Amino acid sequence: MKNQVINSLLFSLLIQLLEAAPVFKNSSCSNPNDTILQSRFNELNNGLDMRKLFLDSDWTENDIDVRFKALISMSNSRGSSPSLCKVTGKGNDPLMFRSLCPWKIVKSNQREGIFPKSLYYAKSSCPSCIGSHKSCEPLNYRIKILERTTQCNSDGLYVYKEKTKELQIAHVCAQAREGEQTGQLVTIASNIDVPVINSLLFSLLIQLLEAAPVFKNSSCSNPNDTILQSRFNELNNGLDIRKLFLDSDWTENDIDVRFKALVSMSNSRGSSPSLCKVTGKGNDPLMFRSLCPWKIVKSNQREGIFPKSLYYAKSSCPSCIGSHKSCEPLNYRIKILERTTQCNSDGLYVYKEKTKELQIAHVCAQAREGEQTGQLVTIASNIDVPVPVR
Ligand SMILES: *[C@@H]1O[C@H](CO)[C@@H](O)[C@H](O)[C@H]1NC(C)=O
Ligand SMILES: *[C@@H]1O[C@H](CO)[C@@H](O)[C@H](O)[C@H]1NC(C)=O
Ligand SMILES: *[C@@H]1O[C@H](CO)[C@@H](O)[C@H](O)[C@H]1NC(C)=O
Ligand SMILES: *[C@@H]1O[C@H](CO)[C@@H](O)[C@H](O)[C@H]1NC(C)=O
Repeated sequence: MKNQVINSLLFSLLIQLLEAAPVFKNSSCSNPNDTILQSRFNELNNGLDMRKLFLDSDWTENDIDVRFKALISMSNSRGSSPSLCKVTGKGNDPLMFRSLCPWKIVKSNQREGIFPKSLYYAKSSCPSCIGSHKSCEPLNYRIKILERTTQCNSDGLYVYKEKTKELQIAHVCAQAREGEQTGQLVTIASNIDVPVINSLLFSLLIQLLEAAPVFKNSSCSNPNDTILQSRFNELNNGLDIRKLFLDSDWTENDIDVRFKALVSMSNSRGSSPSLCKVTGKGNDPLMFRSLCPWKIVKSNQREGIFPKSLYYAKSSCPSCIGSHKSCEPLNYRIKILERTTQCNSDGLYVYKEKTKELQIAHVCAQAREGEQTGQLVTIASNIDVPVPVR
C-alpha cells in the first residue's frame, strides 16, 4: 500500500490552527515598543523559555540555543523532503523525524496586532501517519499572547489584552478523533494483534522515574509541606502540572474535573489487556487513541524529595499498536526539591533543586539508536508497512 494522500479534514484543521487574529486599529494610538510587550509577555507566561518545549532529552541549560538552532536548521533542510511523510528518520535523528507523524519546527507567519508577531511551533504536513491511515494529531501546550485592542492608555499607547493560544509542540499518531475522518478514512485498522517485543527501550521507559537517593541527618527535622510547596511553585513559576496532560478544549474552570476524568479513565482502562493492541475509539481522549497509549498515574511515594509523588504519562506498551516501532516519551522538564544532609539555622533540612523529566505523552517512532535489543535487529523503517484493512 503506497502512502495514499488522504485529504482528511483533520489535515486542513491542523494547518489552520495558528490562524489569523483580527487586527484592531485606532489612528489615535501608537504602538508600545517591543521591550514593553516582551516584558508583559514574559510575565504572562511565567518566564517560559519556549525553546525548551521543543528540545529532545539530554539537553542542558548551556546548550539550549545550539540545540534549538540545530532543530530549526534540520527542519529547513529536511522538512520539505518528498520522503518526509513516507519513511521515518534513522535512529540517530531527533524524535521529530523518527515519529510516525514527523514534524518540523517553523515560525508562524508574522502578524500585526499581536505579540509575539510570530511564534515557533511544531508543524506536521503529513496527511496521515507513516505506514497507516491513522491520523496525525497535535499535542498542544497553552501559552498566553498579547492582542491589541482599539483603545489607547493615558500615554497614547495601544492597550493589549491577553489571549490564550494553543501551541503545537509535537504530533502523535492516533485513531482519528470522532468527526474528523473523511469518507476516505472509513476503514481503519485498529484491531490488529501485535507481537509483543521485550525491547530494551521498554525497560528504560519504566525506569525513567527512578528513585532519588534519600539523605538523612538525625539532627535535622523536616520542613512542613506548606514551605516545600511554596518553594516548589516558585521554582516552577507556578506551573499547574495538570495542564500538561489535558486534551484540547479545556477551560480554566474545568481543569480539575477534566484532569480527574483522565486519571479515572487511566485507572479503569489502563490495565485492560487490549490497551496495547487496539486503539481507543474516536471519542476517547488522545491518550487512548494514540498508537502508543498512555495513562496518567502517580509515581510511587518517595521520602526525601518534594513532591513525594508526581503524576506522569505512563506507557506500558512494548511497541506501537500495529507495528514494531517504539513508543518514546515526550518529556517536559520541571524542578523538584531534594533533601540534603544539612539543616538550616532552624534545624530544618535544607533542600536543593533538581531537574526532572516528566513524561507528558508518548510518540510512536523509529527506535533511537542504541535502544534496540537483539530482537529488534530488523526494523521496518524503509518499508511501507502493510496494514490489514477490515
Ligand atoms: C520602550 O518604551 C518605554 C516606555 O515608553 C521606555 O522607557 C523605554 O526606554 C523604551 N525602550 C526602547 C528600547 O525603546
Ligand atoms: C480610539 O482610542 C480612543 C482612546 O482610547 C478611544 O476613546 C476611542 O473609542 C478609540 N476608537 C475606537 C474606534 O475604538
Ligand atoms: C509551616 O512552617 C512554617 C515555618 O516553620 C510556619 O510558619 C507555618 O505555620 C507552618 N504551617 C503549617 C500548616 O504547619
Ligand atoms: C547534619 O547536619 C549538621 C547541621 O547542618 C551538619 O553540621 C552535619 O554535617 C550533618 N551531618 C551529615 C552526616 O551530613
